[in-house]
Amino acid sequence: MSIALAFVGVSILGTWGIATIALIVGGIILIVAPGDAETVSSGLGTGIFLLIAGLVSGGLMQIVAAPLLGIDPPLPVKAKSIIPHERMTAWASAGPLRAFPDGVATEVRLRSLRVAIVREGEEARALTALCPHARLPLASFPGAPIRPEPVRDGCVMCPFHGARFETTTGKAVRQPFSSEFNAAHPLLGRLQSKLFFWNMGAEDIQTYPVRIENDEIMVGLPR
Ligand code: FES
Repeated sequence: MSIALAFVGVSILGTWGIATIALIVGGIILIVAPGDAETVSSGLGTGIFLLIAGLVSGGLMQIVAAPLLGIDPPLPVKAKSIIPHERMTAWASAGPLRAFPDGVATEVRLRSLRVAIVREGEEARALTALCPHARLPLASFPGAPIRPEPVRDGCVMCPFHGARFETTTGKAVRQPFSSEFNAAHPLLGRLQSKLFFWNMGAEDIQTYPVRIENDEIMVGLPR
């Protein structure tokens, strides 16, 4: 995806998302405080209408528009689909170790699979590129204002809603929309948690075996 196309896509989704949130918030306000006694019923009706319109808009945005822009539907990925490393016997080169920035996820495509490579000094880890919470990329989108987060304490953090995963095991050590993340990211955290009320958890993420051969990162993939 080109940077220009990614920028347009993110802008469209961002505008759409803000409009959706405005509909939902406006609907909730009108339902909770519909106005004076004479206009209560019309305020309540308008509030319910806005709330339903907002929820439908949010659903359409996430299920229809995002895939058209090359974004996977925001459905969770279950840990039961994780493939054990013993079955990852098709080795592919991700490139020279030092071509990858230290301590931040970088996405590559290996045999049609989207893989996030995380270099930590002289070592490297490989995880599936899409966060199991809502299939958004750990390395973010090219040119997007949301930047990948630095690896901390051996964990990579999804920049979209703050889930954290151990880079070695893939274990989910922090769930999306934690109070810490929401406090630091009001738009991506607190506001989006309202849209994702139906999907608030992240299970463990798929990892891939890695070995370094002649300074190249080799990643084991399923056959
Ligand atoms: S998509 Fe990663 S935490 Fe939501």
